[in-house]
Amino acid sequence: MLKATSNRFIEENYKIEEESLNASLFTTGNGYIGVRGSYEEYGSIRIQGAYIRGVIDEIIEVMEPFADNEYMKKYYIDEDKLKNFEYQDSVVNNADFLLMRISIDGETFYPWEGKIHSWQRYIDMTNACLVRKVRWENSKGDITDICFERFSSFDNDHVYCIKADVTPVNHSKKITVMSGTDKRVKTGGQKITSVIGEKAWDNSTFVHMLMGKKYGFETSVTTTTQIYPAKPQWTCENEGGLIYNVAEYTSKQGETQSIEKNVYITSSREENVTDTHVLSERYATLYDAHFKAYREVFDMIDVVIDGDEKADAGVRFANYHSAISVARNDSVHSLSAKGLTGEKYNNFVWWDCEVYQLPIFIYSCPDAARKVLMYRYNMLQKAKENAKEAGLKGAKYAFCSSVNGDERVWEYARHPFMQIHINADIAWGIIHYYTVTGDEAFLKDYGMTILTELCEYWSSRVELCGDRYEIKRVTGTDEHHPYVNNDAYTNYLVKFVLEKTTEYCKKFGIDKDYTHIAQNLFLPLEKGGLIPQFDGYFNLSRTLEEAGGNDAKKFQMKSSGLYHKSQVIKQPDVMLIYSYLNMYPENSNYAANWDYYEKMCESSSSLSFAPHSICAADNGRMLSAYNYLIETSYIDVYDIHKCGWQGVHSGCLVGSWYAMFRGIAGIVCREDCIEINPHMMPWWNGVKLNFMYHGNKFTVEMDNEKYILKTDSKTPVNVVFRGESVMVDNNAEMCKEM
Ligand code: BGC
Repeated sequence: MLKATSNRFIEENYKIEEESLNASLFTTGNGYIGVRGSYEEYGSIRIQGAYIRGVIDEIIEVMEPFADNEYMKKYYIDEDKLKNFEYQDSVVNNADFLLMRISIDGETFYPWEGKIHSWQRYIDMTNACLVRKVRWENSKGDITDICFERFSSFDNDHVYCIKADVTPVNHSKKITVMSGTDKRVKTGGQKITSVIGEKAWDNSTFVHMLMGKKYGFETSVTTTTQIYPAKPQWTCENEGGLIYNVAEYTSKQGETQSIEKNVYITSSREENVTDTHVLSERYATLYDAHFKAYREVFDMIDVVIDGDEKADAGVRFANYHSAISVARNDSVHSLSAKGLTGEKYNNFVWWDCEVYQLPIFIYSCPDAARKVLMYRYNMLQKAKENAKEAGLKGAKYAFCSSVNGDERVWEYARHPFMQIHINADIAWGIIHYYTVTGDEAFLKDYGMTILTELCEYWSSRVELCGDRYEIKRVTGTDEHHPYVNNDAYTNYLVKFVLEKTTEYCKKFGIDKDYTHIAQNLFLPLEKGGLIPQFDGYFNLSRTLEEAGGNDAKKFQMKSSGLYHKSQVIKQPDVMLIYSYLNMYPENSNYAANWDYYEKMCESSSSLSFAPHSICAADNGRMLSAYNYLIETSYIDVYDIHKCGWQGVHSGCLVGSWYAMFRGIAGIVCREDCIEINPHMMPWWNGVKLNFMYHGNKFTVEMDNEKYILKTDSKTPVNVVFRGESVMVDNNAEMCKEM
């Protein structure tokens, strides 16, 4: 397991069995591209991966869900559809441009050959670089230090840089370097790509590939390598699926030579891919530009927890993964559940996008948040077609969205088709964005079109039952209970969306009014303030009966349970209303609901941990809030769900920031004020974090005695601290007793 320090997550030994998990954790990226932490000398299948956002094509989906209990057969898997299901869209793996092999006196360095004297590999969150320091001995007793360093440029989406410093420790032998691209990559174990064009010249190589036949995306990769100060002559080779340049030099004991490889990667998504792009700048120059751009993003989202290195490191690591998960320069595609760290979940955009992943960018990088929402605007036409197909009005978005807005959900699973809450989640994302940024131009030009289409959809989807509207036959956020009526999360959120959209329509003079439905939409609530997750929920058993014995874990259940008879849930639904939607339904009892649903949730979706941390903090259960925060940040480092090798859980990791912002710092931004109800961990010395509100930067510094809020805003902002209003601006900070 990686060792956590404040700024680095470190692998201290070479362990073959941890290669695939650590490849996910050690992904370098910039939102446009994600490059898994495979080795320069060899990119093994399942470990190597280099993905461009939105470069998607068709694969054969190898999956065999097994229905051997009543729940699986009747409520989870549609076996008929399973029989017909074969192809699925997926992100496609690019040529492996990391390829760089270093041979000492004819023996190539591979970690599994020769002898490793020392090994340290780490991701450095301060500069987004992956570093590997190795002292290696070949079979002839030649000992060499090699220090690899690489980054995906935050300054230019298309640029990837690698450097290897090679220092002979006890010899002056001949060193051979080969550097280029391995074209033999696979996606989901399948060969999807084919080479259209390639060449090698001087110290460069170029590979132009077709990324699959369905969508026909193309990519190209140009590599340029030089060794300093030796600057040897290069020759070119193209054999065995590898295209590369080769150079040799005679080393001097103790003298370091730097191999610098610059890579330019591009796709037909955004530009002509037939041109070569030779980058001859030095590594240091490209690094400086990258570092400056990265720090602009990272300084805004960085959270400092003083007095607890584990939590401090965990949140920073999670924030690093959030920073590399978002495309800051285009809206071709959007935030996906594994970011660009692996192939699992095929790079689809889910509801995680607007509800879980978007907030950090709304509060720290609003331009990126706007780009994320523009993706939905670009998919609107398809969403309208989807609604029409379903015989409904307005727009109905795909639960799993790919590059063209088609529904890409795994057909045989019953629940995703019913998770129509996606159509409220997207609206929530727009409202949340507008509330915090005040970006009226976006709301007017794009947001309102989406919001009104979504409200049209809901107006045609609700059913009049007696004197109230109900939303029937849905799956809420908890996938263990498909086919329910009046899911709490869905109904509460839809009402809010209808009300807000009506309010905005008035503001912009749009002739739409959804008040009648909003006011008469049924909101589940029982005596005593408990909110039933859906109609009849409390009549189900509080225990989980088991039957069958299928390989349930594979399908995201903790056991072979008969979930349809049980109150045991996969992930929060009701508790999201309080924690992520910041609603406190009248006459409901937050603490009672939290006590109840915490016990019923088996957290087999990682999307449980961050909301739980917030609910625990809101209710003053700080130890519990802490444990959930650690699970949120360390979900993949500890491999809690035993599938980290498939890619990190982006929607969970990003919750670390939100749990700190919303749970610990206790901040909720409303349109006209910032509400603050903090809950500090008693054993922490202090917390520092930043956020943006209405275009201005705010900084929180809190400890167990005081809470300080500073801003650069020239206009006074109303801050309501524990119910008491205070005006804050660049001349007047807020300092309150805790
Ligand atoms: C969760 C969904 C989520 C998806 C992608 C599933 O396991 O239950 O809520 O959208 O993973 O993260």
